This record gives sequence, structure tokens and C-alpha cells, in this order.
Amino acid sequence: MNITAIYPGTFDPITNGHSDLVHRAARLFDHVIVAVTAHTSKTPAFTLEERVAMARTVLSGINNVEVCGFDSLLVNFVRARGAQVILRGLRAVSDFEYEFQLAGMNRKLAPGIETMFLMPAEHYSYISSSLVREIARLDGDVSEFVHEDIKAALRKRLL
Ligand code: COA
Repeated sequence: MNITAIYPGTFDPITNGHSDLVHRAARLFDHVIVAVTAHTSKTPAFTLEERVAMARTVLSGINNVEVCGFDSLLVNFVRARGAQVILRGLRAVSDFEYEFQLAGMNRKLAPGIETMFLMPAEHYSYISSSLVREIARLDGDVSEFVHEDIKAALRKRLL
């Protein structure tokens, strides 16, 4: 059986922590779809199209990974793509409560879809997109946290 995993998020922007997770997932699943949401409670610095393009740039070297934007309920997108798994990252215990709620709600909405969790490498456990944006906005060095093209995009947008 071919297993497709969907890795949803806002990716505003994609960080090395997200990429680390995608590399791990690409070794485990036949196909991984990085699904960039149009619907988020946050106000993104980058448009959906920009967030998709940035993720494509960063992940272009992995041949079983695809990047897509989506504008619907996550479980409907998962069903439409014929995927079986929603993949999320757990960086620290503090992520757990929100992830537990999200996984529970998605299970309620679509009992046939499983949520699975992977941990990024320890040295990425403190990275978040909002911290990276804040550092970039204040002219700090984000080289260790994002791909060089993302660093350039952050400078252009935020400085
Ligand atoms: N490395 C680095 N950072 C990571 C990370 C990792 N491996 N995993 C998560 N993060 C960070 C993100 O950068 C982000 O940081 P920020 O808050 O500072 O921006 C934070 O963790 C969480 O972001 P993300 O993983 O992108 O998830 P999200 O909470 O923004 O998105 C969705 C959640 C997309 C899954 C949810 O909004 C959704 O499903 N939307 C579609 C609509 C829908 O179906 N809603 C109903 C859901 S029941």
C-alpha cells in the first residue's frame, strides 16, 4: 500500500526545523505533501503564493515531496488527495496541548485519518517562524535557521 502523508502548516516562512521534519518524513512515507494553509489564525508576513514558492525552493531536492497550497478544511484536503496520514512536528512539551486538540478534532471530523508526530533534530527545537521573523525584522542574523533564499526574502520583506 502506498502511504501519503500530509504535513500542514502556515510556513511563514519555512524554517530549517520544518525542512528537517520533511527530510525525516520523506524517508518513512512513499509520498509527502507539504500543505500550506490559506486559513490560519495568524496574520502572515508572506502571501499564500509566496509561502508555497519559498517551501518549493527549499524542498526542491527531495523527489517524493510535493508542496501545495490549500484553501479548505484540512481533513477535506487530506481526503481529496487520497492521503492517510496528517503529519505534525513536536518540538517540546509545550507543543503538546495544541497538537492534542488539533489531532483530536481532526479525528472527530475524519476518523479514518491518523495523525502522526515526528521530532525535529534537537538543535531545531527552539526555532519558530515568528521568532525568525522577529530576529530578521530587528536586523539579526537568521542564517542558522533558514535557507539562504528565505533569508534574502525576509530581508526584502521586513527590513
Ligand atoms: N521546526 C520549526 N518550527 C516549527 C516546527 C518545526 N519542525 N514545527 C512547527 N513549528 C512552528 C511554526 O514555525 C509555527 O511557529 P509560529 O507560531 O511562531 O509561526 C508553529 O510552530 C506552529 O505552526 P505550524 O506548524 O505551521 O502550524 P499552524 O499552527 O500555523 O497551522 C494548521 C495549523 C495549518 C494545521 C491548522 O491551522 C489547519 O489545519 N488549518 C486548515 C483549516 C482547518 O482545517 N482548520 C480546522 C482544524 S481542526
